[in-house]
Amino acid sequence: MATNCLTLCFLLICLLPLASASNPNHREHHPKHVEAIYVFGDSLYDSGNDIHIKTNATAKFLPFGIDFGGKPTGRCTNGKTVVDYIAILLGLPFVPPYLGLTDHQRDKIKTGINYAAAGSGILPETCPSCLALDIQIELFNRTVTNNLPKMFKNQAQLARHLSKSLFVFNTGVNDYGHNSQKASKDPGAFALNLLNEFSIRLQKLYSIGARKYLVNNIPPAGCFPSSAARMKPRGKCDEKKNKMITLYNRRLPTLLNQLTSQLPGFVFVHSDLYKFLLEMRRNANKYGILYTWEPCCPNNVDGDLSCHPNSVPCKDRNAHLFFDIHPSQITNYIFVGCCFNESTICRPLSLKQFVEGQF
Ligand SMILES: *[C@@H]1O[C@H](CO)[C@@H](O)[C@H](O)[C@H]1NC(C)=O
Ligand SMILES: *[C@@H]1O[C@H](CO)[C@@H](O)[C@H](O)[C@H]1NC(C)=O
Ligand SMILES: *[C@@H]1O[C@H](CO)[C@@H](O)[C@H](O)[C@H]1NC(C)=O
Repeated sequence: MATNCLTLCFLLICLLPLASASNPNHREHHPKHVEAIYVFGDSLYDSGNDIHIKTNATAKFLPFGIDFGGKPTGRCTNGKTVVDYIAILLGLPFVPPYLGLTDHQRDKIKTGINYAAAGSGILPETCPSCLALDIQIELFNRTVTNNLPKMFKNQAQLARHLSKSLFVFNTGVNDYGHNSQKASKDPGAFALNLLNEFSIRLQKLYSIGARKYLVNNIPPAGCFPSSAARMKPRGKCDEKKNKMITLYNRRLPTLLNQLTSQLPGFVFVHSDLYKFLLEMRRNANKYGILYTWEPCCPNNVDGDLSCHPNSVPCKDRNAHLFFDIHPSQITNYIFVGCCFNESTICRPLSLKQFVEGQF
């Protein structure tokens, strides 16, 4: 099934109408209209909040952004993020980072705001200097309380807007990264606690008005360049790390189903980023991707494996699954194509079916 998906996604590379990328306002392909995308989570989804906070997890220098008009924006990859591609497919503008906006600008934006921040996790202790998920939700609450009412006639219209918006999440991997000792000690309890903490926060967002969710599970951190480079043989995944993450991932769909049955109007697409990346390791060459664990930046695997301001990246960035420790633009592109057009990675519906049926 998964191989099938990747085969289809291969076709999709040719089929995705990226012509619309040049004109994000083209709406004729989008009869069911998603009004806004509100973004939560970590560096996979950050579009520039990281630049505004004191953290080491920033992407404010080249070669980050080398394929995003040649400018670093805080996106932790060479070009577009997963959320950028989702925005293009839904006919919406790129989602601006909350911290990069003035209050005046926030009063005028009703197509979505990005609260995701590099380094953050579900648990506040994961990165005290980052925007933890709690803070992201608090900032979203401020948007809903202070800014959005200026653009809608009344509370009912505002509530309608929120119910016609897509809430996207990528979070959890940093919780495993920063609390690895605690996680190893009792992986089952750690996973359950993390799921419970995540559930509490999804319910908070629901209480503010969020209804339609696109939720990634946690990627296989054991296969990230930082782990794989240290394995023997080199490039192999750290299965111990992956196994712990699997305990969380296995129960995430159950949690989302529970919320659906408890909260009227709560609907979701669960996106199996974990499986996608493992499948990509196996099928990468179908897409012209030759390096499945060696990052593009730095362009060697013997140093500290982090991309520094003066690092010289690889020449063919589309040949790498990972740009640094984060997926490269080509990987983000294939992932979104797969989720949009297929119901194997994104379930129970593809994103396209979800949008057509729910908006
Ligand atoms: C999705 O895949 C189908 C074939 O399975 C194709 O007809 C369609 O154009 C694809 N959609 C996009 C957005 O590429
Ligand atoms: C950030 O990096 C600097 C220099 O490498 C280091 O001294 C400092 O401890 C790091 N800070 C955090 C919060 O990781
Ligand atoms: C959102 O903000 C309002 C007004 O400040 C507050 O009453 C409410 O408790 C907040 N909701 C959440 C979920 O934080």
